[in-house]
Amino acid sequence: MTRTVYVNGQYLPETEATVSIFDRGFLFADGVYEVTSVLGGKLLDFDGHAIRLQRSLDELEMKNPISKDDLLEVHRELVRVNNIDEGLVYLQITRGAADRDFAYPADDVAPTIVLFTQAKPGLADSAKAKEGMKVISIEDQRWGRRDIKTVQLLYPSMGKMAAKAAGADDAWMIEDGHVTEGTSNNAYIVKGNTIITRQLSNDILHGITRAAVLRFAKEAQMNVEERAFTLQEAQNADEAFITSASTFVMPVVEIDGVAVGRGVPGAVAARLREIYLDESLKTAI
Ligand code: PDD
Repeated sequence: MTRTVYVNGQYLPETEATVSIFDRGFLFADGVYEVTSVLGGKLLDFDGHAIRLQRSLDELEMKNPISKDDLLEVHRELVRVNNIDEGLVYLQITRGAADRDFAYPADDVAPTIVLFTQAKPGLADSAKAKEGMKVISIEDQRWGRRDIKTVQLLYPSMGKMAAKAAGADDAWMIEDGHVTEGTSNNAYIVKGNTIITRQLSNDILHGITRAAVLRFAKEAQMNVEERAFTLQEAQNADEAFITSASTFVMPVVEIDGVAVGRGVPGAVAARLREIYLDESLKTAI
């Protein structure tokens, strides 16, 4: 089936949607994005994604071509016309099309905005969530503003390929001996009754799922420690897991070939996944 996508104010069949070869997203990775999950045809945490989008744009002095209300409307319309029950809405805004120049173009260049959906049946009832993921470690060689959700995703993509080549599912990135995050997710370990995840800074993306999961964990009287942890600490932890809009809470059972805990998904990750799905569905729009 041909998807309907949204490009610069128009709903179009995906086969007819185009962006200029001069688009700065294409030439300079000069763009930001968001991924919002859809469950039961509703958007999870739309507000959080809209707020982070604005922050990414502000940090790059990029214009926002759409109001929050209109953005919500476009998300909902795409979910509706493409019949998405479980899946994702991808949104990208770039600085627009201009003759190639390292300097930003003049103010009258309109940003480019693109949205499309991806159907992901089984997103909530995922087999991986029951089985657990294997991760490898790689050096974190990304730039220093990982808090901005830019489309510069080549290094994470290389990390994902390295993981695949090693028979694993993903890579955790290491800087100064400590885990920053996964290629496209935030990383956590569990020691006893304490959930440990890296503190927010420019070193990691400020995950929307992370914020929700930590809030739910605290409400459920779990201890949360926001600090960096080493790979060895992770390998010796009772549990490990990741969070993101496309995986929710997903257990990690092996790191660089070493089993975490008993090498099976842990109770804390399972409970957090359940709470996250229940609670987020209540406020989905
Ligand atoms: N990735 N860290 C990185 C580097 C990410 O790319 C993502 C999200 C996260 C988790 O953020 P959130 O909980 O807001 O999804 C952390 C998305 C899903 C992606 O690139 O597809």
